[in-house]
Amino acid sequence: MNRQNASDPLTPYGNRPMVTPIVNAVNYEYLDFEVLRQITDGEVDGYTYHRDDNPTVREVETHVARMENAEDCVICTSGMAACSMVYLTYLKAGDNVLLFHDVYGAHYKVSLMLERFGVEVTWINADEYENAESHLKPNTRMIVLETPSNPLCKTVDIRHMRRVADKVGAMLIVDNTFATPRHQKPLELGADLVVHSATKALGGHNDLMAGAIAGSKDEYDKLWFTRQAIGCTLDAYSASLLERGLKTFNLRADRMSENAQAMAEYIVGQPQFSSVRYPGLESDPGHAVASTQMQGGFGGVLAFDVGETEDDAKRFIDALQRIYHAVSLGATETLICIPYLTTMLYLPEERRMGFGVKKNTVRLSAGIEDTDDLLKDLEQARSVL
Ligand SMILES: Cc1ncc(COP(=O)(O)O)c(C=O)c1O
Repeated sequence: MNRQNASDPLTPYGNRPMVTPIVNAVNYEYLDFEVLRQITDGEVDGYTYHRDDNPTVREVETHVARMENAEDCVICTSGMAACSMVYLTYLKAGDNVLLFHDVYGAHYKVSLMLERFGVEVTWINADEYENAESHLKPNTRMIVLETPSNPLCKTVDIRHMRRVADKVGAMLIVDNTFATPRHQKPLELGADLVVHSATKALGGHNDLMAGAIAGSKDEYDKLWFTRQAIGCTLDAYSASLLERGLKTFNLRADRMSENAQAMAEYIVGQPQFSSVRYPGLESDPGHAVASTQMQGGFGGVLAFDVGETEDDAKRFIDALQRIYHAVSLGATETLICIPYLTTMLYLPEERRMGFGVKKNTVRLSAGIEDTDDLLKDLEQARSVL
């Protein structure tokens, strides 16, 4: 074995492979003490131990950073791990964080832990983001938002929220999972960090969990410290699946948003459906703002109410033949769920119902199937209502 060449796992034999090799090693043999010094002094991007870094993961980080026009990116084990890393890295006891009710439900659980550590949490409704300034406190250190939001696809004006954050020098964190980097670049609109559940459209095939945080090199260093400390580095196999997903990401994102737009336009015209939320619809309250901060499409997710009752929504979902009854989003297949019964299940009742979600509200995530097949499926299932 040529030990010199073996020191570079990406090019072990000189020719660079088309697919980044899956480096499963947890630790690495030091070539000599000089190399150890160069790695520990940060002179070379070397590898020593998986919790620190991994070459397969690093390749994906570079790719996601490019997609978000960021200087760098940290990849970790899930979207919620990414969000939790952000909280752990920047907040301390006595700080206030402004959180939107309209974010993925697990933030509520994490907020209970933050409160246990002395962080104060203020919740605001995305429909009222224009009044966000009135909720600021001198100790507000961070604002966290999703746009479009989960599950009701509400739009929040990122540039406006940058101005709000600047009033007290707070960080602005934007979860870009619903929009995807194909259609929205939060860092260009004023966010300090952009967060992803890479489990969704970035991976895209329902076969991996990952999270991503993209931003400046300085922020990368701080977030890397947290990941290295708590140990939520993604495994190399999932990183390889993510890399594969990213190769087709633009094509998939375009098709998902075309399918979502077509389904939203169909649904909005049917008497059995109401409260259709999709930023691509001119009738959507967020359309004007979304048109100024999104490009080339409005993402793949929409929400609407089915009939009048939970039972109506269940009968409609049961009647679907092509569209899958499943949680998650951003996948090759079109997925539908009732958030009240799934993604919001573990929230207190007032949080499940207080901000526009009803028991008959469904969240529909467009896949990449033929549009006509999806529209036909909605049409035939509508007949049971
Ligand atoms: C917008 C958004 N952010 C974060 C998450 C959490 O991601 P993960 O399930 O990868 O932890 C989700 C999950 O559905 C989500 O929809």
